[in-house]
Amino acid sequence: MRITVIGTGYVGLVTGACFADLGHEVIGVDKDPEKVARLERGEAGIYEIGLPELLSRHLGENLSFATDAREAVKRSEIVFITVGTPQGEDGSADLTYVREAAEEIAAGIESYKVIVNKSTMPVGSTRLVERIVRECAAGEEFDVVSNPEFLREGTAVRDFMHPDRIVIGTDSQRAAGIMAELYRPLNAPLIITDPASAEMIKYASNAFLATKVSFINAISNICEAVDADVKEVALGMGYDHRIGFEFLRSGPGFGGSCFPKDCRALIEIAREHGYHFYLLEGVMQVNQEQMELMAKKVEGRLGGLEGKTIAAWGLAFKAGTDDVRESPALEIVRMLAERGARVRAYDPQAMENARRSFPELECAESALDAVRDADLLLILTDWDEFKLQDFRKVGELMRNKEILDTRNCLEPLSIRRLGFTYEGVGR
Ligand SMILES: NC(=O)c1ccc[n+]([C@@H]2O[C@H](COP(=O)([O-])OP(=O)(O)OC[C@H]3O[C@@H](n4cnc5c(N)ncnc54)[C@H](O)[C@@H]3O)[C@@H](O)[C@H]2O)c1
Repeated sequence: MRITVIGTGYVGLVTGACFADLGHEVIGVDKDPEKVARLERGEAGIYEIGLPELLSRHLGENLSFATDAREAVKRSEIVFITVGTPQGEDGSADLTYVREAAEEIAAGIESYKVIVNKSTMPVGSTRLVERIVRECAAGEEFDVVSNPEFLREGTAVRDFMHPDRIVIGTDSQRAAGIMAELYRPLNAPLIITDPASAEMIKYASNAFLATKVSFINAISNICEAVDADVKEVALGMGYDHRIGFEFLRSGPGFGGSCFPKDCRALIEIAREHGYHFYLLEGVMQVNQEQMELMAKKVEGRLGGLEGKTIAAWGLAFKAGTDDVRESPALEIVRMLAERGARVRAYDPQAMENARRSFPELECAESALDAVRDADLLLILTDWDEFKLQDFRKVGELMRNKEILDTRNCLEPLSIRRLGFTYEGVGR
């Protein structure tokens, strides 16, 4: 099939490259000419395992990039909208880019198209895009489908190619048939439903996962008070198949470009429809407090922050990505710096992005470079590189052998055996 993907960020680029790998003819459109030029040179511009290989395999063959949506749409049967839907001022999703994309699509329609909302959009957005396209392209034939994306940054290519399920929200049998055919090679359970339910599935899924994280973080705080170990508790809970092991790792709180904004958007969707979503508000509050708690732990361990040097390992919102959007790691680093500490940070992939939003941030060349003369090592993202460090050497370089491991990614006994004072979360 001939496919256009509008927006070549984390979702759009992976979507385009993966469809190209499945044998389709794909045009990735982005309004950012620098991004398009970079992509045309074969540079992904984001850190995502497997993506550079897909680009070099298909670029110039069945994958191309452009800034002009209209031409691309004309040549395609299916058009994906994968632009950003950031948080607006009141917490709801800002659909400015979606509206723009819909207008650009309308300008290129000359024959039947399936327009696919893959960005995360509030309930009612399928109808909204339908309305915009109809206003701008009256008389043209098209269907709009909701097809939310569930990939995770860091494992995006694998997640796209091996999804747990594919959700298609449409009232059109014709569009449903085309979408089912498009995804057939992925061999995943297909949920064909109405647009509102499809849109809600995405928000409900993210809100539920965020709830699991805040739940285990709340439990971890009680564990600390009663001398229990949250890792043991999560293991014991996870064996219950109704609960499962995933998303039961306590830490500094959730972040990233999706969970916080999607939770806020869902709270707003609920509010607009007269429902007060206390539960999800609590989830967000626990998350904010968890970050604050991590900063307090550091302060407590050091007996104040003024004049202290802290080595921070990790800035990305989780391992495996260079994304720092709403990263708890960056938020905690910021809190500590504002309260007088000198923070020297290192992240294998995310330093460039972090410096963009926090220009004064002091970055180190390597994990070992970061710990030189530090009073405390703060682990904020669980990259394998951190777990595999030579901690004997780390200890030699530090002024104080103190570790606060907000990801519980080190083995406390072996670390303590090397003479460190070690503290995790909820243990
Ligand atoms: N990042 C994730 O892990 C993830 C996972 C699932 C769903 N989502 C959802 O997918 C959507 C996209 O997220 P992302 O992280 O890929 O965003 P992103 O910010 O990385 O990328 C968005 C891209 O769209 C481009 N763009 C904006 N308006 C445009 C227009 N009118 N025409 C062409 N290009 C345009 C921007 O230049 C940018 O390159 C969001 O709704 C997000 O919530 C994201």
